[in-house]
Amino acid sequence: MSLTIEPSDLPDTTTRRDSARVASHRTILMCRPEHFTVSYKINPWMDPAKPTDTSLALAQWQTLYDTYVGLGFDVELIDPEAGLPDMVYAANGGFVLDGIAYGARFTYPERQAEGPAYMRWFASAGFEVAEPVETNEGEGDFLLVGDVILAGTGFRTDSSSHDEVARVFGREVVSLTLVNPSFYHLDTAIAVLDPEPVDGRHTIAYLESAFDDASLAILRQRFPDAILVSEEDAAILGLNSYSDGYNVVIAARATGFERQLRERGYNPVGVDLSELLLGGGGVKCCTLELRR
Ligand code: ARG
Repeated sequence: MSLTIEPSDLPDTTTRRDSARVASHRTILMCRPEHFTVSYKINPWMDPAKPTDTSLALAQWQTLYDTYVGLGFDVELIDPEAGLPDMVYAANGGFVLDGIAYGARFTYPERQAEGPAYMRWFASAGFEVAEPVETNEGEGDFLLVGDVILAGTGFRTDSSSHDEVARVFGREVVSLTLVNPSFYHLDTAIAVLDPEPVDGRHTIAYLESAFDDASLAILRQRFPDAILVSEEDAAILGLNSYSDGYNVVIAARATGFERQLRERGYNPVGVDLSELLLGGGGVKCCTLELRR
């Protein structure tokens, strides 16, 4: 009698390798880019002389929105306001944790009216609003990793706001200094891949050259098994991605990062936001996490 092994009897290595990765439900806030354009320059990506296509920005943003809905996320929307072309980058609107929304206080006058606009939304959505005294650009520079808040400074968010955040949320805050003006927000240089710990740990991905030596030492010590992303992928804001613990929504052109994510058992989902890149933002910039 011969023994035949059906393919279905073999262990499915793909499933097995991925089984440690679990998608968790996410609730986020987004802002439709109805008024998106580049009319001023506050980062190296922006060039007001270059034309922008608002309808293309809207179509690309819609694909991101549909991708999130398809992943089962709850996506809430804030009304865009005329005269605030950068309002689409919702990540900068605040930092929300434990039902408290710490408001943003923008560095440049061009964006300052966004702070109160987002705070009004947080209040109407039932969040306790913590009004900021110090300059900070919300989740652009504050990233939650487990119980710890990684906090960026160097270009936008003032390090005095790191202390303010520590007081508001009663959490450990780790300050990191950015040194490359193209990676002016922490979320352009670090991607948090695990909203929940996996085997007690959190995987992050980052661009080494975006940080000063002291910050790099902290990152290496805290995250020895981090994914180190290439300059090429970072240069199209590949790190500016959003993960539910399994699915990682990334810039479609970041093919090296895509491969690294697959090797670690994640499921990268590529989205093209070329138009919003003209403003210096990508996937994560358009996404603000709401933690109630
Ligand atoms: N034009 C915007 C600015 O320079 C882009 C913000 C990108 N947002 C982010 N979370 N990185 O402020």
